[in-house]
Amino acid sequence: MRPYIVAGNWKMNLDARSGQSLASEIRATLEQTHPGGLVRVLLCPPFPLLPSVAEALTGSDIGLGGQNLYPADNGAFTGEVSAPMLAAAGCSHVILGHSERRGYFGETDAFINKKVRHALAHKLLPIICMGETLEQREQDKARQTVETQFRGVLKDIDGDSVGNLILAYEPVWAIGTGKTATPKQAQEMHGFIRTLLSSTYGDSVAQSVVLQYGGSVNADNAADLFAQEDVDGGLIGGASLRTQDFLSIVTAAAEAAKRT
Ligand code: PGA
Repeated sequence: MRPYIVAGNWKMNLDARSGQSLASEIRATLEQTHPGGLVRVLLCPPFPLLPSVAEALTGSDIGLGGQNLYPADNGAFTGEVSAPMLAAAGCSHVILGHSERRGYFGETDAFINKKVRHALAHKLLPIICMGETLEQREQDKARQTVETQFRGVLKDIDGDSVGNLILAYEPVWAIGTGKTATPKQAQEMHGFIRTLLSSTYGDSVAQSVVLQYGGSVNADNAADLFAQEDVDGGLIGGASLRTQDFLSIVTAAAEAAKRT
């Protein structure tokens, strides 16, 4: 059975002190209320916050993730960080191919594919983002866009590795806009991604891949999204910066997990 995974993408927010307090608050509340083991929770702070957030999470079940990496172990790449650096900072996961990276920093599927391989080579588990723009959806090209991204970012990666990945469907028009995909729209695309996985890697790999939805998930809409058959959790931006909202989302995932 697939786990539910809820990850907080803090983007470029907070500082060492406020990040540590948020992580401590989330930890304390989860330890009181969280029905253990049903949902995996990850926090993905900006790089300079990793040590203080790691400290706040020491000994807890909450995992730590980076928001990006550069696909080389070390070298003259000013401003970048590598998978070994993230792993040494305590990360188990890394977000790759976020639409903000694609849109603002020109990241292509081929470059994201290099990052995915680099992460896997260093035993970091990627959360790979994909999703269409509003224009692509309106032109009825949402599936085509997602399929191209899927094939590009996973090129030449074997089924065993793919089976451990997290794929996040994040329609660009829903990110940070307050406009969420309906549960039906999310399920349609997640079902489509599951079919792509199955036809490319076989059914057992397809069934083991966690498919997160991301894009304006909040305390009110999380339960309906997570109730969908192929929605296995969420990648949460804005709402992950507010303890109570994030915890409501984790609780919604735990409720969905109990029903499966
Ligand atoms: P949002 O961001 O929840 O603020 O829409 C999600 C994401 O970008 O991962």
